Amino acid sequence: MGTVSVQPQLDIDRLTAELAALAGISEAEPPVVTRVVFTEADLRARAYVRGLCADAGLTLQVDAIGNMFARWEGTEPELASIGTGSHIDAIPNAGSYDGTVGVLGGLEAIRALQRAGFRPRRSIELVIFTAEEPTRFGIGCLGSRMMGHVLTPKAALALRDKQDHGLEELRAAAGFAGALESVAVERGRFNQFVELHIEQGPLLEQEGIDLGLVTHIAAPASLRIQIEGEGGHAGGKLMPGRKDALAAAAELILALEAAAKSTGAIDTVGTVGVCEVFPGAVNSIPSRVRLETDIRDIDGARRDRVLASLHEACGEVAARRGVTMTTELVNADPPTTCDEAILTAMAASAADAGRSSKRMVARAYHDSSFVACIAPVAMLFIPCRGGVSHRPDEYASPEWIAAGVDVLARTLARLAS
Ligand code: GLV
Ligand code: MN
Ligand code: MN
Repeated sequence: MGTVSVQPQLDIDRLTAELAALAGISEAEPPVVTRVVFTEADLRARAYVRGLCADAGLTLQVDAIGNMFARWEGTEPELASIGTGSHIDAIPNAGSYDGTVGVLGGLEAIRALQRAGFRPRRSIELVIFTAEEPTRFGIGCLGSRMMGHVLTPKAALALRDKQDHGLEELRAAAGFAGALESVAVERGRFNQFVELHIEQGPLLEQEGIDLGLVTHIAAPASLRIQIEGEGGHAGGKLMPGRKDALAAAAELILALEAAAKSTGAIDTVGTVGVCEVFPGAVNSIPSRVRLETDIRDIDGARRDRVLASLHEACGEVAARRGVTMTTELVNADPPTTCDEAILTAMAASAADAGRSSKRMVARAYHDSSFVACIAPVAMLFIPCRGGVSHRPDEYASPEWIAAGVDVLARTLARLAS
């Protein structure tokens, strides 16, 4: 890492306009952003970002799952590169800044360095990861998970969406081809990787701090639970002896909430975000329910204890209510520890830029967690209003974004020198 005193030349108006244009590429009416992987909106968004990268003189490579790599060649191109980037897919009913700030902000950081006349020694690569969000295939960070050797091609090929379309069919229709084995990236390709992202929590805004230097990324796990009970007429079938699958599911939802609270740790969270009820008629006893649960902690062992409590509750509720429960562990990833050298570079860059910063943890999961399997990583957070994210009213002000991009650019310059 070199000591550099580059002054990045930001064009925040251009970046703000690009973020707005990208938000306009959506399956829903503005301001709602819905951009699910491999849909027409996702493909249009990719084309838009590709065009911007080409305008900046970056060379583009796309891998077999659709991860995009836009490269600014360094003066010593044989050296391992410095990576930055994030995702442009968005969950249903999302906002404009999750992921996109790391992609378009990463691009603006590169352009700001170009405008300042900086030449990197190591190449700088902007990575746009495929499907950070689990919306389509039920598993988050698809592209980075495969890059980081965590999801095998065989397991990837088994993924199907809710319409029962397989990954192979969907990626081919989206125009991505080639052996999935080639998606895994060898250690040594990236010397270091740094991801700019909105905090998705309230702390930076509340404390009036410009930037979060992320030291740990929480360990996410997801358990799918299928409950089979017995349906019937809501009027005719009396209460004794019912095997109501939704009533059983209700107990599990509360059991997970209690287990997550019982650790006493602020970092433990448990959520049931999906509850599908069959047949879903007001006058019919639910015979089948599918729950998707999400459990996270920065302490992997503590997270696993909550997962174990949920499993126990499944057994107990199933036995008592005479329903059957089938569970499927979708993922149980370890927590990520960020790289001290990158944290030091970010802190020095924040100081150079006259910006306040604090060390903090990331409670959402991020592509960086999986890039961490092949390279040292860290993340740079900017505030978002009210800590709101995954909602259309998600907002980060141009000033907050400018601070993040400025410090990202200075950090990239340091790491690439
Ligand atoms: C990613 O968006 C997450 O759910 O943390
Ligand atoms: Mn998200
Ligand atoms: Mn994100």
